[in-house]
Amino acid sequence: MDGTLASGKGTIAQALAKAFGLPVLDTGALYRGVAVAVLEAGGDPGDAEFAARIASELDPATIDDAKIRTATAGAAASRVSAHPAVRQALFDLQRRFAAQDGGAVLDGRDIGTVICPDADVKLFVDAEPGIRAERRWRELQARGEDVALDTIVRQLAERDARDAGRETAPMKPASDAVLLDTSQLSIDAAIGKAVRIVSERT
Ligand code: C5P
Repeated sequence: MDGTLASGKGTIAQALAKAFGLPVLDTGALYRGVAVAVLEAGGDPGDAEFAARIASELDPATIDDAKIRTATAGAAASRVSAHPAVRQALFDLQRRFAAQDGGAVLDGRDIGTVICPDADVKLFVDAEPGIRAERRWRELQARGEDVALDTIVRQLAERDARDAGRETAPMKPASDAVLLDTSQLSIDAAIGKAVRIVSERT
């Protein structure tokens, strides 16, 4: 599964994993984990060599969910993830997860295009930018992060542009991905649709 920020992709991935009894890997958490570790070590997310070294030493078990879910961590994740060496350092871990017996669900930006080009089912989840910004704003509010909605709109546009515009593994639907637009769907309706898409193809 791939998709844009606040499209519902993460929630749908978790629900699909539950529905089909599969393990799930949120690959964004890996990039966020690298970003937080870089910042905590006093490094610059723009320093490819430093970020790649942190990525190669990353132990997914030590990623702190509270720390990686902030807006700062997300923005830094988008920067470290643009370095090819960082993506390379996280490649094997993701491939191993995907290749386990019985299958798996992975969610990210380049799963259908780079990590699992032969996946049985590929989904690309998206929604209108205004709707995604509002969802993201609500999420941050619920966590006590008081960020203005227009700041989120700007950050989301920046993040989309950086993720889709980078040279290595840009965010884009694989040519054989099924597109799921959640703009007008409740989360339950979106999950229902995703489950049907997967059931029809497996
Ligand atoms: O999905 P999430 O918002 O947690 O991802 C954070 C950032 O990590 C994304 O904006 C993107 O830059 C990067 N990412 C990526 N490839 C993935 C997953 C996430 O480049 N497979």
